[in-house]
Amino acid sequence: MHGNAAGMSYDVSETRGNGKRGETSGERPQEKGKRFYNYDAAFDLEKEIRMQVRGRGMEIEEEEDEYFRVAHYLHTSRGIPLTSVCQKSKLCQPIQWLPQKKKIMEYRNKLVLAPMVRVGTLPFRLLAAQYGSDITYGEEIIDHKLLKCERRINDVIGCTDIVEKGTENVVFRTCDEERNRLNLQAYIAGCKDVAAIDVNMGCPKAFSISGGMGAALLTKPDLIHDILTTLKRNLCIPVTCKIRLLNSTHDTVELARRIEKTGVSAVGVHGRRVADRPRDPANWTEIATVVDALSIPVIANGDVFQHDDFQRVRTVTGASSVMVARGALWNASVFHPQGTPIEVVKREYVRKSILWDHDIKSTKYTLKEMIMHYTSLELPEGKAVTKSESLADIARLYGEEKYYESINTKRHRVLLDHSIL
Ligand SMILES: Cc1cc2nc3c(=O)[nH]c(=O)nc-3n(C[C@H](O)[C@H](O)[C@H](O)COP(=O)(O)O)c2cc1C
Repeated sequence: MHGNAAGMSYDVSETRGNGKRGETSGERPQEKGKRFYNYDAAFDLEKEIRMQVRGRGMEIEEEEDEYFRVAHYLHTSRGIPLTSVCQKSKLCQPIQWLPQKKKIMEYRNKLVLAPMVRVGTLPFRLLAAQYGSDITYGEEIIDHKLLKCERRINDVIGCTDIVEKGTENVVFRTCDEERNRLNLQAYIAGCKDVAAIDVNMGCPKAFSISGGMGAALLTKPDLIHDILTTLKRNLCIPVTCKIRLLNSTHDTVELARRIEKTGVSAVGVHGRRVADRPRDPANWTEIATVVDALSIPVIANGDVFQHDDFQRVRTVTGASSVMVARGALWNASVFHPQGTPIEVVKREYVRKSILWDHDIKSTKYTLKEMIMHYTSLELPEGKAVTKSESLADIARLYGEEKYYESINTKRHRVLLDHSIL
């Protein structure tokens, strides 16, 4: 049997007992490799969390989310065996053993930040969310890499890191704030920290194709079926995929129908073929044909450059959700009806990069893309970003040195508190 808290699944079969408080009290003796938990202690802890959450004046739904969040945090960070879950309306009643709960994510009527390698990292995802993106895709991460990683709670920065084992190389960084809207693009992954998993079936780069990934999958419908059904069977969060158009509309529709049958929650359709270049116009009409053929939500992608384009794509394609990549990269406030001047957006991005101690290479890459779109890297700002070697340099350049210092002072204090220094 599997219990579930906040999208995380863990085995409770060895701890189940008869599920009634009082009848399973106390640590039970160890038995042949089995672990037994102290049910009373777990129950009391849950009760306490519930009462604390109740006192915060939240709506019932929010309360429930918050409860799961705290329970999840305690379980994952401290290994506290929260093996039981009291049902919402039956606070403090005998422990209920809930069946595995699949998380649901709504994919209709959403403004979506597309996956972008090197760009779709934590600061940029939070930036997009701040301006109105409902769902943010992380950059694609290859399953082999994730499999070599371990999950670490980073108390100093206040985030969760997926780090290559035996190194300090952060492959993926996330925080609680984005957990309910983050769609991680990966081929296989754990589901503790994200709201959904997406499979990249559109990347036309030689690196992807030669590794049998990205657009290479488009010609292998049986493999697509296997991957998606396996993920669906094993994950307790929604699974989606992102495809490109095939050579004929008929083939695209056939593939999309096959994908729908796997039970995925939504499919992203980038309105270009594999051979198309980014400058070729996205074919919204062909996306419309896919939308017509499916019942699951289709997320239309391609050529949204200003806020009004979201509505244009909706009108032409019939898709209620729309995904944007370059339009957001150039100015993340594309998600907001009024928009925000790029100078303000860049500064906000710099602050978020400082706050989340973002990798300098990726910070520079993203800033340079923003600069190049509006001016040139040959002008003073572009040259200075190119020359920057650290976040401190970037902070100075954008007049954020005080912010940089204050964040670093706070971190220093946390390190002292943890007696790490
Ligand atoms: C910098 C950059 C990185 C990208 N990385 C990914 C990726 O990791 N996974 C993916 O499926 N598509 C990736 N794409 C493609 C976009 O998600 C999107 O499908 C494409 O750019 C079309 O959308 P647009 O016309 O709004 O730019 C990337 C695009 C850009 C510009």
